[in-house]
Amino acid sequence: MGKNIQLDSHGRLRHFLSIEGLNRTLLTEILDTAENFVSVGNRAAKKVPLLRGKTIANLFFEPSTRTRTTFDLAEKRLSADVLNININTSATTKGETLLDTLQNLTAMQIDLFVVRHSASGAAHFIAQHVPDSVSVINAGDGRHAHPTQAMLDMFTIRKHKEDFTRLRFAIVGDVLHSRVARSQIHALNMLGCPEVRVIGPHTLSPSHVEDLGVHFTTNMEAGLDGVDVIIMLRLQNERMSGALLPSKGEYFHYYGLTEQRLKRAAADAIVMHPGPMNRGVEIESAVADSGHSVILQQVTNGIAVRMAVLSMAMQQSNPEGA
Ligand code: CP
Repeated sequence: MGKNIQLDSHGRLRHFLSIEGLNRTLLTEILDTAENFVSVGNRAAKKVPLLRGKTIANLFFEPSTRTRTTFDLAEKRLSADVLNININTSATTKGETLLDTLQNLTAMQIDLFVVRHSASGAAHFIAQHVPDSVSVINAGDGRHAHPTQAMLDMFTIRKHKEDFTRLRFAIVGDVLHSRVARSQIHALNMLGCPEVRVIGPHTLSPSHVEDLGVHFTTNMEAGLDGVDVIIMLRLQNERMSGALLPSKGEYFHYYGLTEQRLKRAAADAIVMHPGPMNRGVEIESAVADSGHSVILQQVTNGIAVRMAVLSMAMQQSNPEGA
């Protein structure tokens, strides 16, 4: 990437494109700022005027439920004017390039773009082509990065476990195609986690996965032994080119998180999933709906974390200050 375009000359967040290139101080600032925004969601009037007068465009070139709606809510709770561009009815369907679409939207004086795209690097590309006054937040690009998802996961973990430096993690499933797992691993390493285990079949694990600073095992039972946090991943069929598994049933047999397997983890282990979740494929319903599951808390926390990132990128992060 060369120059770190995510930070301004004072080291503050300008774009949020990936966890790589940031540092522990900045990640902690995002988590602390999000903490301040949680109370906004608990008010009768769920709104602060922090981004009043700012215009934000949500550009989702790929389907999304959680990320799109929580960004939308976060922006509205910050009082920004929000444009949800429907790509299916936009001029991109007539052959307009991403750059031309971007330049036309920039001409409408957008202050910040939230971008999801199937191509790895799309958010970086956009960030390199916007004027200096405009920020870009990556809402998931190909199999590369999903940094706000990683931060809402870190926020949720901190709520339950506090000290990252004492925790053991298991990330289970299709790490090969997962932008979420990559961002989580970078964030966990940056926050000082001593042990991150990746569990899955060889066909769904990146070659040299250990280079990311994790331990790899194909053995689900052994991998879950004593862990404090279990992060389950979906099989990302839309990014698979060819059959990497015999069947979903066989996958569940070896890697599905069942109540029985959960007993291998610490007694107070939490179970996470970024969604969308496929019950009976990577996780048993009894586990997904159990007291160990914090899956819906992840969704709720996504609003405060996205409010934090939006306000920091716009250099306005005090919820009481406007
Ligand atoms: N976790 C996540 O990115 O979900 P969506 O695809 O629904 O946004």
